[in-house]
Amino acid sequence: MMRLSLALLASAATVAAQTCAFPSSNHWNSTGVLATPKAGWVALKDFTIAPYNGQHLVYATTHDSTSWGSMAFGLFPDFNQMASANQTGMSPAAVAPTLFYFAPKSIWILAHQWGSTSFSYRTSTDPTNPNGWSSAQALSTAVVSSSTGAIDQTLIADSTTIYLFFCGDNGKIYRSSMPIGNFPSSFGSSYTTILNDTTNNLFEAVQVYKIKGETKYLMLVESIGTNGRYFRSYTATSLGGSWTAEKTSESDPFAGKANSGATWTNDISHGELVRDSNNQTFTVDPCNLRLLYQGRSPTSSGDYGLLPYRPGLLTLTNPGLGPRDTK
Ligand SMILES: *[C@@H]1O[C@H](CO)[C@@H](O)[C@H](O)[C@H]1NC(C)=O
Ligand SMILES: *[C@@H]1O[C@H](CO)[C@@H](O)[C@H](O)[C@H]1NC(C)=O
Ligand SMILES: *[C@@H]1O[C@H](CO)[C@@H](O)[C@H](O)[C@H]1NC(C)=O
Ligand SMILES: *[C@@H]1O[C@H](CO)[C@@H](O)[C@H](O)[C@H]1NC(C)=O
Repeated sequence: MMRLSLALLASAATVAAQTCAFPSSNHWNSTGVLATPKAGWVALKDFTIAPYNGQHLVYATTHDSTSWGSMAFGLFPDFNQMASANQTGMSPAAVAPTLFYFAPKSIWILAHQWGSTSFSYRTSTDPTNPNGWSSAQALSTAVVSSSTGAIDQTLIADSTTIYLFFCGDNGKIYRSSMPIGNFPSSFGSSYTTILNDTTNNLFEAVQVYKIKGETKYLMLVESIGTNGRYFRSYTATSLGGSWTAEKTSESDPFAGKANSGATWTNDISHGELVRDSNNQTFTVDPCNLRLLYQGRSPTSSGDYGLLPYRPGLLTLTNPGLGPRDTK
């Protein structure tokens, strides 16, 4: 009796302390297509996903026969119910959205591109209402030299500073920052170029996350490979610091055709990791790593905006057992 209780206590303590390392090579499995666009849209893209009262809240870019737009899915508890979740269009659109809860001011933020400045944000106290957001405010007036200009923002904060990371479809990753107490407001026009590589290697869809239980950060960037889009990864010990290449090859990527397990798509493209909470820390748990991504039929071709992108979900099937700091 005594022995059994001690064994149970010991095993409960082990479970509570469990952390996970990233394996040396990632292996994922994939769902098939999770949802198809409602009538009128040809593509669902650029997913941002935040937990909301135990359910998933997803915003996305849309494309109809001519134009970009944006939408939100109705809340769904499990990904196998995403197909039947409501799809609600937004007016005005919030293209390539980033959704999070800004805890210091108890307000939801939806950031996006292509407003009247390079990046914009809207606020809401009810993020489940896709058309209940404030009017767009300037988030950044950064100007970069490329065919697209500044594109694909994300935000993340530590306890003192909030950062804006963005791309230019040009082989560079950029960063702006402000004291967390000044947010929400504009980061202005100044920025630092924090990564330089070829256009294909550092293309777009940058995301930055805090790794749960560690003072370590993970950056994902979408690359153009010879076999489709894939994500490479970088790590840093501070958000304002320098980034170290982690998994950057197409044959051994963070996530791509080489390791996704997906059969319906070669592209593992613009989306987000499923977060541990919805707040500005963008925390992810390496014990439970899932990537909501956009994929498309390998036989599709033609106009980029008309490519039939749909959501899929990768689950990391080989999380390394931690603690990470012994690795
Ligand atoms: C992926 O693997 C996880 C366990 O690692 C399992 O729970 C899940 O059902 C698998 N999903 C698919 C789509 O195979
Ligand atoms: C989905 O949208 C329809 C039509 O607007 C509405 O009647 C229904 O309640 C919505 N369902 C959910 C789960 O929000
Ligand atoms: C990248 O290049 C820019 C000039 O284009 C330079 O200002 C910046 O310091 C470089 N950054 C890194 C991390 O190499
Ligand atoms: C943000 O969420 C993390 C869990 O992911 C939690 O540990 C942290 O306390 C939260 N921070 C704030 C400011 O709410």
